[in-house]
Amino acid sequence: MLQTESIAPIDSILKFITHQTNFFAGTYCQGILIMIKNNGLKIDDLHSELPIIQGGMGIGISGSNLAAAVAEEGAIGVISSVGLCALNTDSSMDNKTASKETLKKEIRRAKEMTKGIIGVNIMVAVSDFDDLVNIAVNERADLIIIGGGLPLKNPVKKLGNIKTKILLKVSSARAANLIFKLWDKNHSNVPDGVVVEGPLAGGHLGFKPDKIDDPQNKLEILIPDVIQAVIPFRNKFKKDIPVIAAGGIFTGADMCKFIKLGANAVKMATRFVATKECDASDEFKQAYVNCKKEDIGIIQSPVGLPGRVIINDFTKKIVAGYKKPFNCPWQCLKNCNYKTAPYCISMALANAKRGNLKEGFVFAGANAYLVDKIVSVKELIKTIMYEYNAACSI
Ligand SMILES: Cc1cc2nc3c(=O)[nH]c(=O)nc-3n(C[C@H](O)[C@H](O)[C@H](O)COP(=O)(O)O)c2cc1C
Repeated sequence: MLQTESIAPIDSILKFITHQTNFFAGTYCQGILIMIKNNGLKIDDLHSELPIIQGGMGIGISGSNLAAAVAEEGAIGVISSVGLCALNTDSSMDNKTASKETLKKEIRRAKEMTKGIIGVNIMVAVSDFDDLVNIAVNERADLIIIGGGLPLKNPVKKLGNIKTKILLKVSSARAANLIFKLWDKNHSNVPDGVVVEGPLAGGHLGFKPDKIDDPQNKLEILIPDVIQAVIPFRNKFKKDIPVIAAGGIFTGADMCKFIKLGANAVKMATRFVATKECDASDEFKQAYVNCKKEDIGIIQSPVGLPGRVIINDFTKKIVAGYKKPFNCPWQCLKNCNYKTAPYCISMALANAKRGNLKEGFVFAGANAYLVDKIVSVKELIKTIMYEYNAACSI
């Protein structure tokens, strides 16, 4: 491949194409592969080299190891703050303190490992939501992705002028509109970006079970709708407010499709599980490598939301009405009543993270069956960008 800078006539073509497109693409011109400069992702004054965010995966699946490896490759790495207390092995610490201390340690560790962009995923549904937001901000996480519920108030408003960007995760234009209007009215500001998560995502889904397959909820429909909802706020606040597509995006060709639809970037989680750097056990990763399309299904989680999983003996027992009463030492989820919940979802997910799939299950996106091997993050991102270039050739 020739360096494009060295070819004078191609320079002007490149300038023209780069001007016309807002994304990274590769094309052949007179037999020479031209790499069009990728504009990455801009979130306010934060600039990511690649338009890829690695999705936060709770109960320790995306910790500092995975997030730092992703950030090191020029994409955005995300540590999930969800359920860190379930992984606590230090009996001298109560679980709430353990959750906060572990998050602090994970952010610091990731920031020592890379100068790239590190985000934190925090769920509104967790009982220590405000504490975790404070830690992410104080530890100078570059961004926070708020999911698992709608943040009616801007959680960082009271923390003053902070550098950490706030991204809202929604599954409909209606939800985006509601939160933007509320923050505008009550705080005179709005989120710095929106992640739109469609029904093919892994883990808990933002759709009622009977709406998961509704064609109106396809990500291809949601993205243009959310862009329309955000435009008035882009104009009013004079900021970019990128819209990021998530849920079922697996290949670079998928990525190209959503960027062509107007998304500024993509968020991918499932594809990052089967990487050497992912913080899950090898058994967890192998569940991805070994699963088939028919092994991926939906269960109703004790949290009250549907969740996409790889079906195993444990999930079959759940569906059959299995109950494992437990004493809850921490009440990690605001709406979980341990006296009536059939089993502890945090424990089941922590078991799976550690490799005990007899007592747990694996969250996975609808495309997890496409995973066929474990690779390094470097190789994976190279492959995705190669696929993207091929698909976005012009
Ligand atoms: C194993 C796993 C765990 C996840 N955990 C969380 C979580 O704790 N909080 C959250 O907001 N989203 C969670 N998600 C959703 C991802 O962050 C992401 O938005 C979604 O999976 C994107 O779809 P994809 O997996 O098809 O790429 C999880 C997804 C997976 C696969």
